[in-house]
Amino acid sequence: MGSRATAPLLLFLGLLFIFVKISEKRATLPGPSFCLGIGPLISYGRFLWMGIGSASNYYNEKYGEIVRVWIHGEETLILSRSSAVNHVMKKGHYISRFGNKRALQCIGMNENGIIFNNNPSIWKQTRPYFAKALTGPGLRRTLAVSVESTRNHLEKLLGGHNTTSTCVDILLFLRAITLDISNRLFLRVPLHEGEIVSKIQKYFDTWQTLLLKPDIFFKFKWIYKKHEKAAQDLQDVVEELLLKKQQELQEAEKLHDITDFATDLIFAQTHGKLTADNVRQCVLEILIAGPDTMSVSIFFMLMLIAQHPEVEKKIVEEIQAVTGEREVQNSDLQQLKTVESFINESMRYQPVVDFTMRKALKDDVIDGYPVKKGTNIILNLGRMHKVEFFLKPNEFNLENFAQNVPHRYFQPFGCGPRSCVGKYIAMVMMKGILVTMLKRYRVHSHNGSTLENIKNNNDLSYHPNESHSRLRMIFTPRNQAAA
Ligand code: HEM
Repeated sequence: MGSRATAPLLLFLGLLFIFVKISEKRATLPGPSFCLGIGPLISYGRFLWMGIGSASNYYNEKYGEIVRVWIHGEETLILSRSSAVNHVMKKGHYISRFGNKRALQCIGMNENGIIFNNNPSIWKQTRPYFAKALTGPGLRRTLAVSVESTRNHLEKLLGGHNTTSTCVDILLFLRAITLDISNRLFLRVPLHEGEIVSKIQKYFDTWQTLLLKPDIFFKFKWIYKKHEKAAQDLQDVVEELLLKKQQELQEAEKLHDITDFATDLIFAQTHGKLTADNVRQCVLEILIAGPDTMSVSIFFMLMLIAQHPEVEKKIVEEIQAVTGEREVQNSDLQQLKTVESFINESMRYQPVVDFTMRKALKDDVIDGYPVKKGTNIILNLGRMHKVEFFLKPNEFNLENFAQNVPHRYFQPFGCGPRSCVGKYIAMVMMKGILVTMLKRYRVHSHNGSTLENIKNNNDLSYHPNESHSRLRMIFTPRNQAAA
């Protein structure tokens, strides 16, 4: 009797043992081996050397869609499987990002502003100001402001050459437009576009250069002095703009009918709800968000249009059918379906924001893998958009958006509590700028440049390498192009 009961028990225990081993094996995160600490050194070195975006793609390609590496000795997951990405985005315990504290202090983002504010309670205080400015009445005004700003910039730059083709320093041009739109919506103070655009670029370079640097880097002041100056320069400009705004508010007999982001923040500071540093940083961040992301996105879109005449034809025919001779209006947006598919397909095929960074604030399990509190997370969105769901993932093709794409497979702005708070306004701005330009001008690339042959960097964002030469495009008036 005893031996008859022992056999099934042993069999059961044996099976249990195998099951536990298999589960353990399944739960082991793929990635480079630790190898006495050499693995972490190599993976950190790769991030510093290749840039965050390129290193993430390298590791996902090598080890699969869920990978464990190390950054600065800290466990870091790189996720490009939609189930894992959506899990992180939707859960409330991934509302922090990561980056060197000294670097964030240097650029003013440490516990201030929103973009890399890693203090959840301060972030929760600032995000509503952004959400208010970027939705509701602000969102409704965005299209008209974008159209007017684009038209003014086109006239200023190309007005005198209305019958011939003109070579345009395209990124400078788009950055000036996006900065002007942001200023008209959020701050409304006269500013010197060219000067601020150049300071924003230097600030962005600093942010990108310092974000993952080791602490020792900050011990050598002479090495990072120029970065510190670049960050300080932009902060000083924003400080001046805020002073002007405060003066305007004091002198105004009654408040403007439409309040704006800066006014709301100044009142919050007066009532002791936000510190002066936080207010300055919030204004700085709302001013850089557009020029940083949208100008390069629209540049990629114009290049794609120049390279795909059949797509250009479809878009221009749609714009003509919907708007005729007048400017685009809010009520047209629903009907501009090809424009919408084009913008989505461009952001999928040639993204500017290729990934986003988060930190686990609690222990968790992601797709069967245990994740410890404090783990850094990189959500590799650009890769996710190329490895799942889409019919022609490695081609630029509007057919990829011919049918409805479930949100979980396409997240250019992220989703959940820490998603892009400007996602609706960004879509409207891009539509306003593109439609206003394409109604008037055909765009061509300059000197045979294509998206494939221009040099790009994929670090904090995916963007053209502008260190050697400025990027140019040719604008030809449509009436002239047709002649
Ligand atoms: C964050 C994409 C334009 C404001 C983000 C994130 C992505 C993104 C992927 C991170 C989301 C996450 O972690 O889940 C883009 C793209 C844009 C764009 C592709 C345009 C093509 C804008 C604009 C604004 C804006 C125009 C504001 C004027 C922000 C802010 C955050 C953010 C403030 C940080 C939100 C937070 O951490 O709570 N964006 N964005 N973005 N975006 Fe955008």
